[in-house]
Amino acid sequence: MLFNIFHLGSMRVWCLLSLLFGHCVCKVYFDKLDRYIISCHTTDFECFKRQYKALRDNVLLGNDRLGIPTYEHYVFAYGGGTCVKLTGLEESELAAIKFESEQKKLTLVLELPLRIQQVKDTIKMCARPDREFNIVQPQKSPLMRFTGNATIGITYPYKLKKKKGMVYLQLEDENLDVILDIPDLSHFHLNSEVEAKLYEWSEWAYEVVQHVDAAEYFALPYTSQLRTLMDHLPLYRFIMLYPEEEYEDLQFSYSEATVPTNP
Ligand SMILES: *[C@@H]1O[C@H](CO)[C@@H](O)[C@H](O)[C@H]1NC(C)=O
Repeated sequence: MLFNIFHLGSMRVWCLLSLLFGHCVCKVYFDKLDRYIISCHTTDFECFKRQYKALRDNVLLGNDRLGIPTYEHYVFAYGGGTCVKLTGLEESELAAIKFESEQKKLTLVLELPLRIQQVKDTIKMCARPDREFNIVQPQKSPLMRFTGNATIGITYPYKLKKKKGMVYLQLEDENLDVILDIPDLSHFHLNSEVEAKLYEWSEWAYEVVQHVDAAEYFALPYTSQLRTLMDHLPLYRFIMLYPEEEYEDLQFSYSEATVPTNP
């Protein structure tokens, strides 16, 4: 949060400077945002999914021009000179979106492949996990890795703000609900070498994620980036209204699960 405030501050200074020099750099780079930001009608879930992907790739993972810091993968100390790295947000997809005017809440649900990967600690900068590992890593044992799935539910309480006649969505601190889904492979027939390995790796991954608060360290640095963006751009850049609609009483909800599957 502090980070965001800092960047906002520096951006204002920059805009002011550019005005003093008689040309508005800000306008140039707000125009450039058109390439990244897709505005959607409230009835179009497919559009919101495309909007999310464009935001993910061009803004939420970091954008220098907007003063949005690059998302750093969460890497934490493991043992034997190794760390564990969690990745997958770069492949996340929007699985649900809900806009509730009465409760003043915006909810997004993201689904992603969760990669849990043991890496050599070359930089000695890995974070300390909430619960330290107590392991002796045998020399030359292969590095472990496993891919599971994760679901991230994000609820932002919001306020509508008017600035210069335009409506902005001011997002407050989000509630995060992160589910790391690592399958139980104990039913695998362990007479196949491949299955035995998969089982071993899934057990390892399950044990590893018990040591960290994934919501706080893995998801929050990413989900909080949306706040910075929404502070800069009026809401119509994200949500287009039909003539009979008002931002004050918008209400819609879509979810992948409610989309009928092909017969
Ligand atoms: C992750 O989700 C995908 C799509 O639902 C599924 O095909 C895959 O088996 C899941 N992977 C694991 C490890 O559970």
